[in-house]
Amino acid sequence: MISVTFISSDGRTVSAEDNSNLLRVSIREKGGIPFKCGGGLCGTCRCRIEQGIENTDAIKPKERKHLTEADFAAGWRMACQTFVVQGAVSVSWPPRPTTPAPRPIGPVA
Ligand code: FES
Repeated sequence: MISVTFISSDGRTVSAEDNSNLLRVSIREKGGIPFKCGGGLCGTCRCRIEQGIENTDAIKPKERKHLTEADFAAGWRMACQTFVVQGAVSVSWPPRPTTPAPRPIGPVA
């Protein structure tokens, strides 16, 4: 079994089978990693493996479209493209950008 700690949400640690996809674990356990496409296209699931990067699988070509070598060196991965092979990881992610409140609609001139 692997364990995943979701630092940026509630800090909860969950368990899953070895070689589990990080985003799927997050979705199943409501871990909170943001996502849109689930297929390596949108870049939304960018996250940082703060502990246990050695327990993840090889970097995929799709990840290289969103992250630099410096990002990888700092532990960044795309959750939908990352499998946790064994052991434990702790993962964080950037806060979602806040969207401005909608402006009130005035009378049409
Ligand atoms: S969810 Fe779109 S790249 Fe991972």
